[in-house]
Amino acid sequence: MSIFNTASGNPATDVENRLQIEHLLNAATLSASVLAEKSDVIAGLTQTPKYIQARYFYDDYGSQLFEQICDLPEYYLTRTETAILQECAIAISEITGACELVELGSGSSTKTRILLDAYEQLNYPLRYVSIDVSAGILESSAKALLADYPSLQVQALVSTYELALKQLKPTSLPNRVICFIGSSLGNLNPQECKTFFSQITRALQPNEYFLLGIDLHKSKEILEPAYNDSQGVTAAFNLNILKHLNQRFDGNFDLTQFEHLAFYNETKRQIEMHLRSLRSQTITLKDLDLTIELASDETIFTEISRKFDLDSIQQELQSQGLKSIQVWTDANQKFGVLLCRLLH
Ligand code: AVI
Repeated sequence: MSIFNTASGNPATDVENRLQIEHLLNAATLSASVLAEKSDVIAGLTQTPKYIQARYFYDDYGSQLFEQICDLPEYYLTRTETAILQECAIAISEITGACELVELGSGSSTKTRILLDAYEQLNYPLRYVSIDVSAGILESSAKALLADYPSLQVQALVSTYELALKQLKPTSLPNRVICFIGSSLGNLNPQECKTFFSQITRALQPNEYFLLGIDLHKSKEILEPAYNDSQGVTAAFNLNILKHLNQRFDGNFDLTQFEHLAFYNETKRQIEMHLRSLRSQTITLKDLDLTIELASDETIFTEISRKFDLDSIQQELQSQGLKSIQVWTDANQKFGVLLCRLLH
């Protein structure tokens, strides 16, 4: 059954008819965000310890490296979450019934397909809203999905999460699920996490759903290799942040003069990634009018990846009005998938 009339006979036209791309980042928001970005980078590189925002990992090459990380033997996160979703996707679709799937940061959509397959198996109409700042990634992954799901409707929003969540229109389907999988929540500090949950609750209507995938606290022996892989892909991903800054702001970071550092901070329950300067050096970013000095062994903080405890995260969600109604984990409790419902 499909509530959408999609058949045009021409596959290319058919895909165009089922795809709606909206650019929420207009010239004014873009130029305001460029200014904000510049001042964020300057603030990060002039504070102690120096800091670069993790979003600078994701230029085209960084996004490719991240896809490679997801397939590394040591990086258990992606395959563990995928296996959990394969186990629970039908249960999720039975609980939510027919609904619109809204995904924050869809990437290659491999995991989205597991959910779409489940809704399709139950003959529910398929409507998918994907949100990402990269128009290229959104369009190519939407087209790949449309080719494989003939009754799927896709709305691709080129936007930050924040802006898109503010502007979500009421859905014509009986329900809605906002998905935030992949443990990207771990890359937010506690304050950012709180703000993010409040954006989610404002975007949902009572009884609508929030699906969250999170990496769980575990031993250093498992966590540290996941961020220090033997092939050096994570090191390349970390160093690429400097190349990205060079390109964006006409900088002269020499990647051979830094080394990747990642360790588990057990007190804060977070992986911390840094770049250690191998000598004292002076860096200039011409577009920012910025020159900084780095001492030998000085580090630049690039990322946190928090590892959660199921009870605490459920309490935090509940305090924001999001009741966790079902939790799935793997047999080794490495990763958790939580389906939450917005209370009245
Ligand atoms: C995107 N995010 C969930 C990854 C993580 O595990 O925190 C980013 C990453 N950083 C290094 N490896 C992967």
